[in-house]
Amino acid sequence: MPRTPLIAANWKMNSVPEGALAPDSSFRPQSGVDVLAFPAASDLRTCVEAGLTTGAQCGRPDDPATKGAHTGDMSMTMVRETGCQYVLCGHSERRRDHGETDAAIAAQVRAALAANLHPIVCIGETEEERNAGQTQEVIRRQIKAVLDILDAAASLQAASLTFAYEPRWAIGTGKTPTPTEIKETHAFIHDLLQGRQRDTRILYGGSLNEQNAEEILDIPGVDGGLVGGASLKPEEFRKIVEAAVRSKK
Ligand code: PGA
Repeated sequence: MPRTPLIAANWKMNSVPEGALAPDSSFRPQSGVDVLAFPAASDLRTCVEAGLTTGAQCGRPDDPATKGAHTGDMSMTMVRETGCQYVLCGHSERRRDHGETDAAIAAQVRAALAANLHPIVCIGETEEERNAGQTQEVIRRQIKAVLDILDAAASLQAASLTFAYEPRWAIGTGKTPTPTEIKETHAFIHDLLQGRQRDTRILYGGSLNEQNAEEILDIPGVDGGLVGGASLKPEEFRKIVEAAVRSKK
C-alpha cells in the first residue's frame, strides 16, 4: 500500500509567503497529499487560525509541562496549545546554530509525543561525513537515539512519527544526491525501522524544487518532501505538491 505523500513547507526565519493564507493557497489541506506549513513561532497562531495544518520548527526537549526560567523557549505543550499538530525535531540548522545533539533531539521527540504532537525528525550527514563514506553510520546513530528513547517508554513504542532525510550539504545549496543514492538511503532507513509498529513516512529534503520534484518524489521509499527555499515561492511549491500527488498514482 503506497503511503499518502506528505509535503511540508519549512519557512525557517521568514515571513509567511504572500498569498499562503488565501483560499486557493497550495499550502492548504488537499486531497491525495498531506500538506503542512512550518512558519516561524510568531506566525504559528495566524497559520492555525487560517486553516493550515501547522507545525512548529522546534520545541523544548524536557517534560512538556515544564514552565519557567527558559528565556526564548517554547515547551511542547505551548506548541500544542497554539493549535499546531506537528513539530520539527533536529533540523540541521538547529543542530548547527543551537548545538542540538542526538540525545537532545531524541528527548524532543519524546516530549512532542507526550504533548500529542507528531514529530518530523530530521536526519542526514554532513559533506565531510559523506566524503568519508559515513552516511549510513551517521543515519544509523541518529535514528537509534530516537528509537532507544521511544523503546524506553512502553506508551511510546507504537507512536507515530516521520523522518526527513536531509543531507546537510544539500540544504539550500542547489545540490542533491543522485536518485540512486536517495533510493539506497531511503531503503536503508526503511530497513532500520522495519518490524516496528509504525507506518513511518520518510521524506526527502535538501534543494527540492520544481525541476527535480517529479524525479525525486517518484523514487521508491520517498514518501514526500521537506521543502525550504522553494516553499517561499507559492507557485513553485504548488508544482511540488502536484508532483507529489502524481507520484503515488
Ligand atoms: P532547502 O531546505 O529546500 O532550502 O534546501 C530544506 C530544509 O532545510 O528543510
